[in-house]
This record gives sequence, structure tokens and C-alpha cells, in this order.
Amino acid sequence: MTDTLDIKITKAAKSRLEETDFSHLPFGKIFSDHMFVADYEDGEWKNFEILPYGNMSLSPAISVLHYGQAFFEGLKAYRHDNGNVSLFRPYKNAERFNKSAVRLCAPELPEDIFVQSIAALVDIDRDWIPTAEHHSLYIRPFMFSTDPYLGVQPSKTYKYVVLTGPVGAYFAKPLKVKFETYYSRASEGGFGFAKAAGNYAGSLLPAQEAMKEGFDQLIWTDAKDHAHIEELGAANIMFVINGTLITPSTKDSILKGVTRDSVLTLARHWGMPVEERLVSVAEVVDALKNGQLTEAFGVGTAATIAPIASIGHEGQLYSLPDITKAEFSNKTLKALNEIRYGKGPDEFSWNYAV
Ligand code: PLP
Ligand code: COI
Repeated sequence: MTDTLDIKITKAAKSRLEETDFSHLPFGKIFSDHMFVADYEDGEWKNFEILPYGNMSLSPAISVLHYGQAFFEGLKAYRHDNGNVSLFRPYKNAERFNKSAVRLCAPELPEDIFVQSIAALVDIDRDWIPTAEHHSLYIRPFMFSTDPYLGVQPSKTYKYVVLTGPVGAYFAKPLKVKFETYYSRASEGGFGFAKAAGNYAGSLLPAQEAMKEGFDQLIWTDAKDHAHIEELGAANIMFVINGTLITPSTKDSILKGVTRDSVLTLARHWGMPVEERLVSVAEVVDALKNGQLTEAFGVGTAATIAPIASIGHEGQLYSLPDITKAEFSNKTLKALNEIRYGKGPDEFSWNYAV
């Protein structure tokens, strides 16, 4: 840990907590009282500031609006029964933030600055962390380029900002999904492994079309021939086939999820057979047809463990066994929550105390 960050703090004149309905927390619409902001100028990070959440004044010429040098992270803070607050594996997000920065030609942010900025912000707004089961404070750190210049080149200036907001479940029910066999999210040599804003922009139309067909989400397949499975919407994907946990191995076109890593670690710890490898659409469809596929689910920070109820492919809809029988995913969600909410031992030292 480096020295504590020197942060200029301006508190909100009045908290918005009292006017916030904690019994209704739509994802990503409610923001806590404060935000963290820093600038990258003259080759260094400076102006560390926590200030009231609010609008920013920016030139319409800033390069991010034209060429999209923008990327983000997503992590959560949890409140324990004894009042303690913890972040879940924030250094993993710090590491991935810098992988995104390198790929998008933006400056890296020292990992300790990333984690300390978040810890300081969460500490100031700790009363915003919900207490209800499965609820948490979602944290959105992001970076974008700010040179007011229309030439296509890496910007020399950037802003790093962190927002937080209380959230409940991202998905309301088990998902009806389909394999996407025309569009692709990312390709080899591209930047699917980065949490780049552009990856999400490109995913909107395919997702909208899938929704028009009655699906909740789509399963991304490889850009070359759509024969292999990559991700599920904005989450990684896992299957239990014949008692083995199977997930696509990570590569250029797949985001290396923190939840994915945590679930694989727990499964291995429990002695469950785990395979990280190429997973073909054909084998999953076969396993669906012959009943060997017992569970399929998305794993991600916002999604947590998101069970799949049915999968569409080539005009057929295949139903999965009832989610209440999904032994592995239910056990995993319970185990992750016990750690995150401080209800059980933190065997892998995943919690970072705020
Ligand atoms: N894949 C994509 C495209 C995502 O947006 C996310 C969400 O962050 C994930 C996977 C899961 O990553 P994590 O578990 O780190 O949240
Ligand atoms: C997250 O889980 O943090 C994500 O990034 C998903 C988000 C795009 C809603």
C-alpha cells in the first residue's frame, strides 16, 4: 500500500439519502451523494477530489465523444451484519482497468490509487450501502479522454471518475436466451478482453433484436464462425454438464471476469471437476437434448449468478431443469454471499475492509 491518497473533499450541502426509496432500487439509476474525480495531465495523475455527485462541464470537442477512448470497471461494496463494510477483490478490478487502459492507449492508474479512491468514496457514502439481502453498493470507476482535438490520435489528457449507487438484483428472473449466430461482440485481435465502452455500444442492437424475438439476453459466439461460445450478455457463462463445470477459456474476445475467477476457485476448492476450454455450440445443444446439461448461468458483478431457464437455437427452444434444482449455482451464490456479507470465513482473503 502506498501512502494514503491526498484527496480534497467537498461534502454535499444536503444528503439525498432521505428522499431515496431503498425498497425500489433499479440498477444504475440512483447515485450516492458524492463522486471521485482525478485528472491526467502533463504525464501524471493529479487533482484527487471527492465532491458532490453532479454534472460536469466538458468541451464538445473532447476526443472520447468522437473516437471513444473510454473504459470502465464494476465492483461492489457490501455491508456486514456487524456494520463492517468490504469491497470484493478490488485489486482484480484495478488490474483489469489497466489492461483496458493499455489496449485503449490511455494512461495506467496505479492500483493503489484505484483502490484508495474507491475506499475513500465508499467510506464517505457508507450510509448508502443497502442492508437488504442480495443488495449492495455498485461502484463504477471509469476513465475517458479529454483532449479537445479532432485528430485521430491518443489523447494526452484524461479524467478518472468513480460513481456509486445502491442496487438490488440486476436480473429479475431466470433468463430466456439464444445463441447469437450473426452479430459478434468482439473478435481476435480486437478488444473484447477490455472493459471498453465501445464493446457495449456494439452489443446494443443485437440485444435489442434478441429482445424483439422474446429473449432476455443473448449468448455471444466467436466472430469467425459462430461455432464456439464466448459470453452471456454482459457476463461470463458457465455450464454444468455431467457434473463437470465447463466455461470458455479466456482470450482476446472474452472479458476475464472477477466473478468467473471466484466461482472457478470455489468449484476447484470443493473438488468439482472444472474445464476451461473451447466450448462448442454443438456440444451444448447436444447436452441440452440428451439431458446431460443440468445448469447454465451467467456470472458477473451486476449479474451475480444469473440462472438460464431456456436456450433458443435454430428455431428450437430448449428448457433447462428447474432452477431450484440447480445445486451448484445455488451453492455457489450462497457461498459467495457468505463471504461478501461477512457471514462466513473469508478463506481466500477476497474482502477488502473499508
Ligand atoms: N463479461 C462482460 C462483457 C461484462 O460486462 C462483465 C461484467 O463486468 C463480465 C463479463 C463479468 O465480469 P466481472 O465478474 O468482473 O464483473
Ligand atoms: C458489471 O457487472 O459490472 C458490468 O459491467 C455489467 C454492466 C455493464 C451492467
